Amino acid sequence: MIIEPRMRGFICLTAHPDGCEQNVINQINYVKSKGTIAGPKKVLVVGASTGFGLASRITSAFGADAATIGVFFEKPSAPGKPASPGWYNSAAFEKHAHKAGLYAKSINGDAFSDEIKQQTLDLIKNDLGQVDLVIYSLASPKRLHPKTGVVHNSVLKPIGDNVFTNKTVDFHTGVVSEVSISPANEEEIENTVAVMGGEDWELWIDALKAADLLAAGATTVAYSYIGPSLTEAVYRKGTIGRAKDHLEATAFTITDKLKDINGKAFVSVNKALVTQASSAIPVIPLYISLLYKVMKEKGIHEGCIEQIQRLFAERLYTAEETPIDAAGRIRIDDWEMRTDVQERVAQLWTEATAETLPLIGDLAGYKKDFLNLFGFDVAGIDYKKDVNEMVEMPA
Ligand code: NAI
Ligand code: NA
Repeated sequence: MIIEPRMRGFICLTAHPDGCEQNVINQINYVKSKGTIAGPKKVLVVGASTGFGLASRITSAFGADAATIGVFFEKPSAPGKPASPGWYNSAAFEKHAHKAGLYAKSINGDAFSDEIKQQTLDLIKNDLGQVDLVIYSLASPKRLHPKTGVVHNSVLKPIGDNVFTNKTVDFHTGVVSEVSISPANEEEIENTVAVMGGEDWELWIDALKAADLLAAGATTVAYSYIGPSLTEAVYRKGTIGRAKDHLEATAFTITDKLKDINGKAFVSVNKALVTQASSAIPVIPLYISLLYKVMKEKGIHEGCIEQIQRLFAERLYTAEETPIDAAGRIRIDDWEMRTDVQERVAQLWTEATAETLPLIGDLAGYKKDFLNLFGFDVAGIDYKKDVNEMVEMPA
C-alpha cells in the first residue's frame, strides 16, 4: 500500500516501514561511526522500541556488541493497517542486529504486568543466563497496577493553588496561543507518580534479582528530565516532576538492594527531544522549537542517539567513576542547560508569536522530527512507492 501520514491531534495514526527502517539504519551508522565502547554485553531494555530506549538498544548492540532483549508495547501490522512505528523500528533493529551476528529478541506486551515480566525472566534465563545492564525507558499515559488491579492515569498539570498560563504552539499549524492549565488534585498527583514514578522499575529489578538474573556489578539506568524555569510549572514542579522525583529517589533504593552483587542504579537526566511522549506536553513543543534553533546555531544539537551514545561512552562506560550531580544524577542534559543556551531561549520566548516563530524558532525542525518518528519525511525514502505494510518480527 501507499502509506501517508494521517494526523489526529498530537499523534500520527500511520507509520512507514521503510522510513522507520532507515531511521534505525541511520542510528546504527551513527553509533558505529563513533567507535567501540567498552560497554555492556547482555542488555535488557524496557521501553526499547522508540525514543531513548531504542537509542539505548542500538548503542548497546552496535557500540558494544551486546546481546539485547527489548520489551515494548506496540501494535503489529494488519492487512491495510500499518503497524505502530515502534513495531517497524524493532523489526528493523532485529533484522540488522541478526545480520551483524548479534543476539536480539523482543517481547511485545504490557511491561507493567507480572506476566510480561515473567516472560522476560524466562527468556533471559534460557538465552542469556544473566544481564549486566537494564535500561528502564518507559513512557506511558497509564498503568494497570499488577497487585491492586487499579488503572492509574497520568496527567500533565501544575501543582499548587494557581492556574498556570503560558504560551504554547500547535506545531502542526505554527499558531502560538496562551494555554491555561488548572492545578492537579492530590489523587491526580498520586496517579501520575504510580504511572511514571519508580515503583515499576523497582519491581523489575526485584524480580530479576530474585531470579538471580543480574550479573555481578550489573547497572540499571532510568531516564529523567529537569529543564528550565520556563517549563517548570508544567514539568519539573508539576505532576510529571513529582513522578520524576520518585523515580530519582528509587535509584537510591535500588542501589541499596544491589549492594551484595556490587550493582548500581542510576538516573540519567536527558535533553528535551521530540518523541511521542514529549509532543503531548503543553508548552514543551514551543520550548523545544526554540531550544533546537539555539543549539543548532551553536553546533551542539543532539538527537536521542547522540545523547545515548555520549551517555554510554562518556558517563557510564569510562575508566573513571561515573560523574554525578549533587543529587546523584547523571547529567547528559549539560549542553541544553548551559547558561548561554538558556539565556538565549528565555529571550526568544518573550518574542515568540505565530509570526516570529518560523524565524526565531526551529518549527520546521520540530515538524520534521515529529514526522520522522513515524518514518515520514526521511531522506532517501520514496513515499510514492507501494510498500508492504505487513512486517513480522524476525524469528
Ligand atoms: P517514547 O514514547 O519514545 O518511548 C516509550 C517506550 O515505552 C516505547 O518503547 C513504548 O513501546 C514503551 N511502552 C509504553 N508503555 C508500555 C507498556 N505498558 N509496556 C511496555 N512498553 C511500553 O518515550 P521517550 O521520550 O523515549 O521516553 C523514555 C523516557 O525518557 C521517559 O522516562 C521520559 O520521561 C524520559 N525522558 C524523555 C525526554 C524527552 O524529551 N522526550 C527528556 C528526558 C527524559
Ligand atoms: Na524509550
